Amino acid sequence: MKILEITGGSKLTGTIRVSGAKNSAVALIPAAILSDEEVTICNVPDITDTEVLCEILTFLGAKIKRASETIVIDPTQLENREIPENLAKKLRASYYFMGALLGKYKKVVMTLPGGCSIGARPINLHLKGFEALGAKIVEKDNCYTITADQLKGANIYLDFASVGATINIMLAAVRADGVTVIDNAAKEPEIVNVATLLNNMGAKISGAGTSRIEIEGVEYLGKCFHEVIPDRIEAGTYVILGAACGENLKIDNIIPEHIEALTSKLEEMGAFLDIGSDYILVSRGEKYKGIHVKTQTYPGFATDLQQPLTPLLTQCEGKSKIEETIYENRFMHIPYLNQMGADIRVKNQTATIIGPSKLKGCDVVATDLRAGASLVIAGLIATGVTRITNVEHILRGYENIVEKLNNVGAKVEIREI
Ligand code: EPU
Repeated sequence: MKILEITGGSKLTGTIRVSGAKNSAVALIPAAILSDEEVTICNVPDITDTEVLCEILTFLGAKIKRASETIVIDPTQLENREIPENLAKKLRASYYFMGALLGKYKKVVMTLPGGCSIGARPINLHLKGFEALGAKIVEKDNCYTITADQLKGANIYLDFASVGATINIMLAAVRADGVTVIDNAAKEPEIVNVATLLNNMGAKISGAGTSRIEIEGVEYLGKCFHEVIPDRIEAGTYVILGAACGENLKIDNIIPEHIEALTSKLEEMGAFLDIGSDYILVSRGEKYKGIHVKTQTYPGFATDLQQPLTPLLTQCEGKSKIEETIYENRFMHIPYLNQMGADIRVKNQTATIIGPSKLKGCDVVATDLRAGASLVIAGLIATGVTRITNVEHILRGYENIVEKLNNVGAKVEIREI
């Protein structure tokens, strides 16, 4: 078993270079199979989620060349095969093969995806979109057979601006006949990144990044070169870390606009931020005051950043609140933070944090990816040693986390026990 051992209390200074966005890359890789020619994607983070997707591509018969952070995908020999459940369950984003295979072959057989257990996470909106495009869906033992004689453009209204459903419907609609309109579409930067890849391949998508996306179906998608945007959640995680333990810590290669909801809250708390065009320089403030945060869809405060933010809020004077509105079960890090000395109560989807608290290292468990990031930050703030188990969750989403942290003065190590 792997554990992450952190000796807390160091001041962090230097530069952390942020990698390509996990939640973009995990959609771009499945999207590439819609092309009938080679697709090159650069700035792909080397994390287990992208490794598994490449395994799925190889299983489907695509040829892959991966050199450093560039992946070349040749889908010309692709076969429409049922993705084995054990691969599909390794991550959430395997569900993008539903839209991509349906879009390309008008048929897909797949089980439900895996991913972090942070709520029920149904896929009803994805399925509603496929049906609107003319697909028939048969479900048996959580395995979906989705077929269409022909996919036809349609008007689709999403009851909730779901990231996954918006991307999956774009993937299915891009080669359909006619025009598809997605209303109340998600507006996250990852959606724009996926639409740009598809347009580079020859698709006709407009409005990505707004709540109304229009997709005019095309017959053929071809060769292209595309770059993954910087990971706004990784960036935000390290900016929070800088506000907790930084002294001129530079978070580099980012798009600061993507994390404005976070940086404005950190400034309200009293953190020192120097925001450049593609970096943020952050130092710990002298005194922090409590803040209130409510998670929302983009451009609101990202749910993926509320867990990493929580340990920093234990350092504020007085009361802070985090209201989680996207997922029903995203507070599993709280009992561990309390074990480390925090004073946090959760009621009705809201965590109330009373600070400041002195955190002390102890043995904790990463129950999901961002809970893991939260515990890493807590461990770096705390005195003494923190040992985190279930490290696999963290490695699914943070490229070279150990090296990146140690390079700026942290004491972090992964050990086999
Ligand atoms: N929802 C439904 N029905 C659906 C789809 C979603 O009810 O058909 C609900 C979900 O249960 C949830 C809410 O809508 O309560 C939001 O879900 P959404 O579809 O937007 O999220 P997702 O596509 O499953 C992606 C990211 C998440 C991130 C969310 C929100 C990927 C692979 N995952 O998930 O990332 O939290 O968008 O921004 O892109 C993470 O990186 O740690 C992570 C969980």
